Amino acid sequence: MTDWSTADIPSLSGKIAVVTGATGGLGYETAMALAGAGAIVILAGRNDAKGLRAIEGICERFPNALIAYEHLDLASLSSVADFARRFAAANEQLDLLINNAGVMALPKRQQTADGFEMQLGTNYLGHYALTARLLPQLRRAKTPRVVSLSSLAHRSGAINFDDLQGKHCYRPWRAYCQSKLAMLMFALELQRRSLAAGWGVMSLAAHPGYARTDLISNGPGANTFRWRVGRLLQPMMSQSAAEGALPTLFAATSPGAELGGYYGPNGFYELKGPPAPARIMPQAKDFASAAMLWDASATLTGVSFDDIAVAA
Ligand SMILES: NC(=O)c1ccc[n+]([C@@H]2O[C@H](COP(=O)([O-])OP(=O)(O)OC[C@H]3O[C@@H](n4cnc5c(N)ncnc54)[C@H](OP(=O)(O)O)[C@@H]3O)[C@@H](O)[C@H]2O)c1
Repeated sequence: MTDWSTADIPSLSGKIAVVTGATGGLGYETAMALAGAGAIVILAGRNDAKGLRAIEGICERFPNALIAYEHLDLASLSSVADFARRFAAANEQLDLLINNAGVMALPKRQQTADGFEMQLGTNYLGHYALTARLLPQLRRAKTPRVVSLSSLAHRSGAINFDDLQGKHCYRPWRAYCQSKLAMLMFALELQRRSLAAGWGVMSLAAHPGYARTDLISNGPGANTFRWRVGRLLQPMMSQSAAEGALPTLFAATSPGAELGGYYGPNGFYELKGPPAPARIMPQAKDFASAAMLWDASATLTGVSFDDIAVAA
């Protein structure tokens, strides 16, 4: 897998993919590569003007691309429910769900429409609810996969069950690390539950290392001390958004990807390089905490995988 690239993506003709946060950065590159391999791709995003520009960009490169843009704001559970309803009305099955959208280290605590801390709500709880709501369509696909974006930041993460929403003490990076740990725990727990319940869904996780995208300017801002240090080291330590999307694309499409696999760049500290199995920290393998997080997510969002699986 050392030299794995988009040229290794098998034909995805006839497959339907949803990519969240596909209006820029890694999501855009992921959608581009999936469309280039023949998949029908729905670019989901919160900014409709950016969504339409993304469609134009992909069509410029792949004039026959089968793509559409749909509004989805992961910071609103009603937007997630609306998106899932529209998707179900138009599609029987969903082959690939890429849980990519995210915000990072917002300097001041913000809340989603449902009152969740913005990073936990957008990066994790919105994707938890979206995946559950799309479970019936995933189960109808032949070999469905869900890829959830984590980060090297999960290594410093802890799930603070006493203050999940950072109401008592908000720290921008702590909240980001928690949300990215939650995504990795979710991916692993979804795989365990899918096997146990026979849902037939393959769940994987990926991280891009350090990829040059708008994540910093959309989050902590371009004038922070961390950013200035980061900019000095950037040429050595980072890779393009297209390269950063490769671990996600490997997890989503490679026949060599494993059930519950976690993929990232293979270079120094997993910062850049072609995709390879990535290091999972012990806290992400804590099954008891993952089950607690799953239950807390069902309570917070009011969306239960089990109820949806039974009703489907
Ligand atoms: N870049 C890295 O080095 C890096 C490292 C580790 C993990 N990641 C993860 O990779 C994922 C993609 O990040 P990126 O680097 O590509 O950043 P980016 O360029 O800022 O793109 C993030 C995408 O998510 C979208 N988004 C944000 N909030 C949303 C919401 N409420 N509803 C729907 N979409 C929303 C953004 O939409 P707008 O266009 O409207 O802003 C944008 O399309 C994130 O989950 C991030 O945590 C990135």
